[in-house]
Amino acid sequence: MTQSPGQGQALDNLLTESRTFPPSAEFAAQANARPELYEEAKADREAFWAKQAERLHWETKWDQVLDWSNAPFAKWFVGGKLNVAYNCVDRHVESGHGDQVAIHWEGEPGDSRAITYAELQREVSKAANALASLGIGAEDRVAIYMPMIPEAIFAMLACARVGALHNVVFGGFSAEALRTRIQDSACRLVITTDGQYRRGTPAPLKPAVDEAVAGAPSVEKVLVVKRTDTEVAWTDKDVWWHELVDSQPDQHTPEAFDSEHPLFILYTSGTTGKPKGILHTSGGYLTQTSYTHHNVFDLKPDTDVYWCTADIGWVTGHSYIVYGPLSNRVTQVVYEGTPNTPHEGRHWEIVQKYGVSIYYTAPTLIRTFMKWGADIPAKYDLSSLRVLGSVGEPINPEAWIWYRENVGGGKAPIVDTWWQTETGAIMISPLPGVVSTKPGSAQRPLPGIGAKVVNDEGVEVEHGGGGYLVLDEPWPSMLRGIWGDEERYRDTYWSRFGEQGFYFAGDGAKYDDDGDIWLLGRVDDVMNVSGHRISTTEVESALVSHPTVAEAAVVGASDATTGQGIVAFVILRGGAGDDAGGAEAIKALRDHVAKEIGPIAKPRQIMVVPELPKTRSGKIMRRLLRDVAENRAVGDVTTLADSSVMDLISAGLQSDKSED
Ligand code: WTA
Repeated sequence: MTQSPGQGQALDNLLTESRTFPPSAEFAAQANARPELYEEAKADREAFWAKQAERLHWETKWDQVLDWSNAPFAKWFVGGKLNVAYNCVDRHVESGHGDQVAIHWEGEPGDSRAITYAELQREVSKAANALASLGIGAEDRVAIYMPMIPEAIFAMLACARVGALHNVVFGGFSAEALRTRIQDSACRLVITTDGQYRRGTPAPLKPAVDEAVAGAPSVEKVLVVKRTDTEVAWTDKDVWWHELVDSQPDQHTPEAFDSEHPLFILYTSGTTGKPKGILHTSGGYLTQTSYTHHNVFDLKPDTDVYWCTADIGWVTGHSYIVYGPLSNRVTQVVYEGTPNTPHEGRHWEIVQKYGVSIYYTAPTLIRTFMKWGADIPAKYDLSSLRVLGSVGEPINPEAWIWYRENVGGGKAPIVDTWWQTETGAIMISPLPGVVSTKPGSAQRPLPGIGAKVVNDEGVEVEHGGGGYLVLDEPWPSMLRGIWGDEERYRDTYWSRFGEQGFYFAGDGAKYDDDGDIWLLGRVDDVMNVSGHRISTTEVESALVSHPTVAEAAVVGASDATTGQGIVAFVILRGGAGDDAGGAEAIKALRDHVAKEIGPIAKPRQIMVVPELPKTRSGKIMRRLLRDVAENRAVGDVTTLADSSVMDLISAGLQSDKSED
């Protein structure tokens, strides 16, 4: 099924990977990023970033590039003023590109819409006027809970335009997940739709909003886009988008906000149960998303057609669908649906239809495409593709090679981009016209970025050695904190290597002999399922909230398709009844998690166990459970309070595998 050229064998042992792919002379000659970029940044980092900030339109220029005196709270381009939405929309119209298509939107059922920059300006202006009419302005928080339709992008840009913070919540999350994210940041408005298409059928979305809003008193209004024409219950907080927004004037004068004016909050999983509201601000964030998008993807605004397959519910959708690309006057594809609706060639059909030249996706999807077979992309004309990107988790060399051969025609450079919700923009990635790429390695920090692999003591490891990934210099798009929780911000990211002043990313990494960086996954208990970070604690809490469950422990076990799959170990309550461990009951538990958090967090497998392995201080030893979940011999059990527990667990499992 997979075609591994070269040595003719599938190489997924990172240690033995030695192939490199230099850029073609032709690509290098036309590339946006030149080798000098590294030297320039090294010579004077702040001057380098100041130059990158000139990519944007500043209403008032900054007087200081970086203020790090109040570390770990950075200020970039201090004193500068700009409007983020103006930079992403209006200035392109003013420079004579109003007729250029900004968004080729492709709906799941096959409807489509081409939106020019002039039209985008009108739509965003109307939406901004609508927000103002609802009394939403600077510093207000707006929750956006929508499928991938153009209005979601209009809504985000309208918030930016009036200085409100958007809090986008993935449309696949449950009512409960939405409620906690609305409440934590006290959103005044929710923007949503009646329903969304899920694999060809309309599914209601608004009922989840109704449920969430019932428990979130900060919400004053709910603005509803009609997408599926699904019948919805109506409350006195509800307003139809087509009634309010469409009747607004299509002109709106953007106001310039401070460079450090907050732009958005995006919730992400941490090791403790409560999701963290990652806060990003304006000038530095837009500078780095714009700079990285230009150099890493080599975007040529007049000729390229770009497509990032992420959902706007994740940071990739924020930085590489909305802000980076639009600030660079992209023409991009936005697709509403799933990759196999109505058939497994849907993405390639879209690439062919629009002549997509830059394609940015996640390893989990590449592995899914591999499973579906190379004959599917082979049916389409993919010759327009010239740059491929990957993000979200380490990409295994086999998938990388498959991607290059079967999607990139054996020649398109692949940029493996490492970054996080917290970093706001790409931090580590090859520059496609400069660096010889290596399958499976994100390689080196971008010019202007400082990253290192260090040992427990914070000392940089030798080439060939492994350790923790840290960021040793502040960067423009760095998070400015966790919403409402300064202590947690310091603890989570800045305490581990506090002495050295390094940001701790939570990822393991190693250097190869050339000093290139290879990412090795999360070192904490956060799982990475299909490129999405899910905390073990959250899933455990959801399981324990079910009446039959006494205790639960969750681990991420390696999974051929999704990177990691969620495996849960549960202890049932004494009175739970004989059927509580049966197939039906297990299914009910899985559904319960889906309801509490969302289908993405549904455990792949639930095992009923008599005990959980714990240390004397009561900490669950997930490492041992991971051994079980991955069918390995169980590791060192000497720190367990009761070392016979693992025998009990392993014995009980022989007869009980509840996978579906
Ligand atoms: C992982 C997504 C290896 C990593 C943009 C990180 C990666 C987490 C890569 C952030 C990559 C992301 N190679 N691992 N190219 N990209 N990761 O916040 O563990 O959803 O810490 O941001 O994804 O996930 P987040």
